[in-house]
Amino acid sequence: MLDKRLSYLSFTTMLNSEPSRRQFLAFLAASPLLAAAGFDADALTHAAHATTRNSDHALRLAQRIVEHGASADGVIQSAKEALSVFDFEPVAKQNIPVSHWGYLATGTDDDGTIQANREGFDRWALHPRRLIDVSKVDASVSLYGTRYPTPIVINPVGSQKAFHPLGEIAVARAAKARDHLQVLSTVATTSIEDAIAARGGPVWFQLYHQSDWAITRQIVQRAERAGAPAVVFTVDLIGGSNRETMMREARRDTRTCTNCHLGGAPLPGISGRVDDRDNRRKPNLVGYPHVTPIPEVGTPSWEFIDRLKSATRMKVLIKGIVTREDAELAVAHGVDGLFVSNHGGRAENSMRATIASLPEVLQGVAGKIPVICDGGFRRGTDIFKAMALGATAVGIGRPYIWGLGAFGQEGVETVLALLRKEFEVVMKQSGVTSIAGITRNHIVAR
Ligand SMILES: Cc1cc2nc3c(=O)[nH]c(=O)nc-3n(C[C@H](O)[C@H](O)[C@H](O)COP(=O)(O)O)c2cc1C
Repeated sequence: MLDKRLSYLSFTTMLNSEPSRRQFLAFLAASPLLAAAGFDADALTHAAHATTRNSDHALRLAQRIVEHGASADGVIQSAKEALSVFDFEPVAKQNIPVSHWGYLATGTDDDGTIQANREGFDRWALHPRRLIDVSKVDASVSLYGTRYPTPIVINPVGSQKAFHPLGEIAVARAAKARDHLQVLSTVATTSIEDAIAARGGPVWFQLYHQSDWAITRQIVQRAERAGAPAVVFTVDLIGGSNRETMMREARRDTRTCTNCHLGGAPLPGISGRVDDRDNRRKPNLVGYPHVTPIPEVGTPSWEFIDRLKSATRMKVLIKGIVTREDAELAVAHGVDGLFVSNHGGRAENSMRATIASLPEVLQGVAGKIPVICDGGFRRGTDIFKAMALGATAVGIGRPYIWGLGAFGQEGVETVLALLRKEFEVVMKQSGVTSIAGITRNHIVAR
């Protein structure tokens, strides 16, 4: 029986010894509760028999099980039962086809940066102040003149109809209900026009460049016409990414992929750019008038940013910046904002948390433009730590997709509500009543 009181420390100690690690993983793999909780017994069996080379992977699997211990006693049946965002993951895993699950869950190589993103938060502890009137708390932030009740941004995630029939529409409705900023992916399964209609207000547009600048420019100008106030250019997949978990899971899917994907399952990111051979389900990439092509020479560099800036009146942000040097260059090129992001551990396997990259990016920016940080945010404390370091806002990816895959719009709304509630409690416990009141002094290095 999984014991959710099992301490993380004793667990880790046990797993450091090879024989007991194997024994324990084999025991977990045999537990019927694992399947009920949506965990993958095959992967655990594999880990139990793995060589020491794979022990990191085994440890990560086992740690995930401890982290999800609350759900392991019984998968929630409704969004209302959820106590944390983690409760949605096993339900979503049950509902989502295995290859689509692989697309959601994957990192790169052995998925180390996904784990690093989570561990990054543990390097900081809270430093709370007492005896301050916290009866009223205002967690709102302003981004380019629009105020949102929390700093939690719904980050771009591609192909959301792979997770739920309503996909981005359900997410937009949840964003509307709870008044969150939503960023729509270029490779969304909903058009920017339909997302803005469902949100009932502006949605930002995330850009993946195309091999033809003439098409990229049309995509950008269409988003502007649709009412997007900002374009977020993602730069962290330009060299391509090795998504092993995704490819392994895709092999386990026995369905006929060609109904949706020409030529079989696509490999997003692998080629270093969106695969534009099959855009049937990617409405932001279709329907442009034919114009004389302007083929890109090489891959985008800072010159591309200048071109992008001159092609639109929207705010231009860059997503995927993790160094001070690039932050300084972004400011020098007139960029309006940054996302400190490693694509949720799906770009290079850097093993560096975005919360660890945040301070140097903030130094490079020197307060001149907003900085949004994403990667591994799962708790109110995570959000608080990023805000204390100086982030303007934080982005979430997988958690709202777990909500979507589990219970559609209601799941997304509940994920947003849980994170907001947790964040506001941490604010109060720390003795702050506004975002401006959260300072570097409210956290300490552990
Ligand atoms: C399934 C999936 C698809 C994603 N698609 C995109 C995308 O189309 N464009 C983009 O800029 N980022 C994309 N991202 C990255 C997210 O915007 C975000 O950076 C990341 O998910 C944050 O980490 P988290 O999932 O740990 O919260 C995607 C992430 C996931 C998990």
